[in-house]
Amino acid sequence: MHDWRTHYASKLVSAREAVKAIRSGDRVVLGHACSEPPALVTALASRAAELRDVEVFHVVVMKPCELANPGMEHSFRLNGIFLGPCTRKGVEEHRATFTPCFFSELPRLFRQKILPVDVILLQVTPPDEDGFCSYGLSADYTQAAAESAKVVIAQMNRNMPRTSGIRIHLDALTWIVEEDAAIAEVATPQFGELERQIGDLIAELVPDGATLQLGIGAIPEAALLSLRDKRDLGIHSEMFSDGVVALAEAGVITNRRKTINPGTFIATFLMGSSKLYNFVHNNPAVEVLPVDYVNDPWVIGQHDNMICINSALQVDLTGQVNAEMIGDVQFSGVGGQVDFVRGASRSQGGKSIIALPSTAVRGTISRICRRLDEGASVTTSRNDVHYIVTEYGVADLRGKTMKQRATALISIAHPAFRDTLRNDPSLVATRQA
Ligand code: COA
Repeated sequence: MHDWRTHYASKLVSAREAVKAIRSGDRVVLGHACSEPPALVTALASRAAELRDVEVFHVVVMKPCELANPGMEHSFRLNGIFLGPCTRKGVEEHRATFTPCFFSELPRLFRQKILPVDVILLQVTPPDEDGFCSYGLSADYTQAAAESAKVVIAQMNRNMPRTSGIRIHLDALTWIVEEDAAIAEVATPQFGELERQIGDLIAELVPDGATLQLGIGAIPEAALLSLRDKRDLGIHSEMFSDGVVALAEAGVITNRRKTINPGTFIATFLMGSSKLYNFVHNNPAVEVLPVDYVNDPWVIGQHDNMICINSALQVDLTGQVNAEMIGDVQFSGVGGQVDFVRGASRSQGGKSIIALPSTAVRGTISRICRRLDEGASVTTSRNDVHYIVTEYGVADLRGKTMKQRATALISIAHPAFRDTLRNDPSLVATRQA
């Protein structure tokens, strides 16, 4: 076997040197979330005056993303399948674009060259004895993009936690930039009494021994707090954060009863504080794997008692879930919601739970609504939906008629809106026998 050390020095460059490989018109894929390489992003942004029409493809982007700033759009056009605080405004102001896509599908789009990749910018750990670097906090689409890209540029960071799962050999890296930046930390979402009530209702649906997926936002985090009296829970989740570490340390999460990958936490990316990063570093019980495995409904469905907990912005009276748009403004994206809803529906004893506060905008808008806002898209369809939970209760929609669904959903709407929803003339359709 050849010694990777021989070639290492010849690949070592500064960030500014490395990003010279990027040309106008290229598609550049950004490493995901906390694995986004800050040194490379800053170096690329400094080339704005020289570059035109570089497409920067992303999912979750970390702050501060100079590439997303107003005025950068002629050099860098952001295109993502998920929007957050850094990327939302650009799409709203038509400086950036959004591509609808299930998270689980993304690796296929890269591998099949439906989205050909010119360059990937990623962040990895230093190599092990055999020359393999860990992908660290994010495996998701990164491996597929790296294997499809013409140029692979890695920021090698000694602070990046070394996780089990997949790894990349130094031979596959075109350029290496050694820079030990602090790993981005993401605060646990704040929640109050209302989310706690919703968490308690969710906990009633979770049996001991269940395997959990937890979505993004305050409600999944609150649900974890309500699960502290359960036993032998397991994790097979798109991502997880500090709340899962707390339950593991309390002995509630053991992964002992998982049907597949027993004894192991499975995720496709990780996002939290240094507490999480210390927990996963060199921990053989945590595997960070590609999203086309973790989010594959067929894989998810093999777990008995798979419980998926996600959130939404609004739900109409037939059970259509909008989790990504406020009116016709794109707020986030489908992410893994539908992947896990469908996986749970195939699981023996599985349940998918969409939980949301009953109102928005200080109680002035009902999130249980007659129909979704004009322009809003359906994230989870009424054919896929199972449980909807608000602070007023649980509606089990599976196998229910239109009329039964409307009745169940009105019963968990905020009381101030129930009469309006019940008496709406357009509800005639849902009053079928
Ligand atoms: N009309 C108008 N505004 C609304 C609204 C509605 N129907 N529903 C929510 N809002 C507002 C809220 O008031 C809030 O505004 P604020 O930030 O000014 O308080 C904002 O929209 C966000 O709502 P909130 O419920 O706090 O969002 P969240 O952070 O809990 O995230 C989702 C909820 C649905 C956006 C998020 O879970 C998501 O993106 N889901 C899709 C992807 C997914 O499920 N992935 C899971 C697999 S990992």
